[in-house]
Amino acid sequence: MSDPIEKRLQEKFKEIPKWAEDFPLDHPKDANISRRDFIRYLGLVSLGFFATTLGVWVKALFKSQQVHSYTSMKIVDRDDLKIGESYVFEIAGVKEPAILVRLNQDEFVAFGQKCTHLQCPVIWKKDEKILFCPCHKGAFNGTTGDVLYGPPERPLPKLKIDVRTDGIYFVGMERGELV
Ligand code: FES
Repeated sequence: MSDPIEKRLQEKFKEIPKWAEDFPLDHPKDANISRRDFIRYLGLVSLGFFATTLGVWVKALFKSQQVHSYTSMKIVDRDDLKIGESYVFEIAGVKEPAILVRLNQDEFVAFGQKCTHLQCPVIWKKDEKILFCPCHKGAFNGTTGDVLYGPPERPLPKLKIDVRTDGIYFVGMERGELV
């Protein structure tokens, strides 16, 4: 005579419960599902990476083709800046500050003030006639903005300056861009 409890249990689990379908005890089948899921997951991750890379590339391309339009402006009165002195100023619509240097009676130069290494502000060293970056001891030529020594690899952005009787004007960029 069969055990009535066992009979009842057999009745109850005649159908495969839902959890048993999701987590089969059949190991080869289980491995197949995992491999398929893994490949699907890998595909999604690759797609994500591809989309991100594409986005960054498109953004960089768009940025490189953007043409800044600068508004010309008066920086200082001619006699406000003594020979050998510098003056830090801002241009409308531009976050990056710039630095104007009076090299001699009629010669003025101006550069973006952010070091091209890691963006520290450069300072004018009158005695050495250089623009010096105190962060990692980089230096730029005070007349050309070219790198003299230190970690920077690119020259400073150079501004176009117009020396007029009533003052010194910024009129655009000669090299590079300010952001
Ligand atoms: S930030 Fe200027 S040398 Fe590093």
